[in-house]
Amino acid sequence: MQPAHENLLADLRLTLRPGKRQDADNLRTLVGGILQSYGLPDSVARDGDLDDVAVWYGNRHGVFEVLVDSSGALVGCCGVYGCSQTVCELRRLYLAYKVRHRGLGRVLLRRVVDWARARGFETMEMFTASVLKEAVQLYERFGFARQLQTAAGPAACDLHFSLRLRNSGR
Ligand SMILES: CC(C)(COP(=O)(O)OP(=O)(O)OC[C@H]1O[C@@H](n2cnc3c(N)ncnc32)[C@H](O)[C@@H]1OP(=O)(O)O)[C@@H](O)C(=O)NCCC(=O)NCCS
Repeated sequence: MQPAHENLLADLRLTLRPGKRQDADNLRTLVGGILQSYGLPDSVARDGDLDDVAVWYGNRHGVFEVLVDSSGALVGCCGVYGCSQTVCELRRLYLAYKVRHRGLGRVLLRRVVDWARARGFETMEMFTASVLKEAVQLYERFGFARQLQTAAGPAACDLHFSLRLRNSGR
């Protein structure tokens, strides 16, 4: 039997594949446009990870996937990288508006959590902004716990979440 998420992707005629350097312009457009729509500063140019996701995430013991539709247009992404041997950070979970509310956000999150757990990471961290209400609800329902914000987080991010990957049952 196909895993449930593969059926969902097939029904929506979407494909997940590893991100590559050639995706940079489309990723910047997708992520930058969504940040702008929430009134958030565009962190894309500052962080540099989207310039070459294969190298940036690959060099940091991570992975980055993109979601493309049947015309080849990039409609989503999600990445994770290792901050240490035991701690990883979730980054860049973004979906184009037209593919939201169908369960894909949870699918992408589940994939990176499973990936990180299989590689032996014990904790997944994530920094976000409270105006990203859909994401905040997704993370909390998934089991992420709010942490006290620390100076380590990006300037525009007022929320810090953490998920135990060992013995959390999720
Ligand atoms: C966050 C995001 C990826 C969720 O994707 P999605 O495919 O629409 O989400 P799903 O359909 O998988 O829903 C999963 C959960 O997300 C939350 N959610 C989704 N849409 C929501 C909405 N309009 N309002 C509140 N919560 C919502 C819910 O908790 C939902 O679970 P439920 O159906 O059991 O209530 C998407 O809204 C998005 O790209 N947002 C903008 C980018 C962003 O905020 N990224 C996070 C950066 S840290």
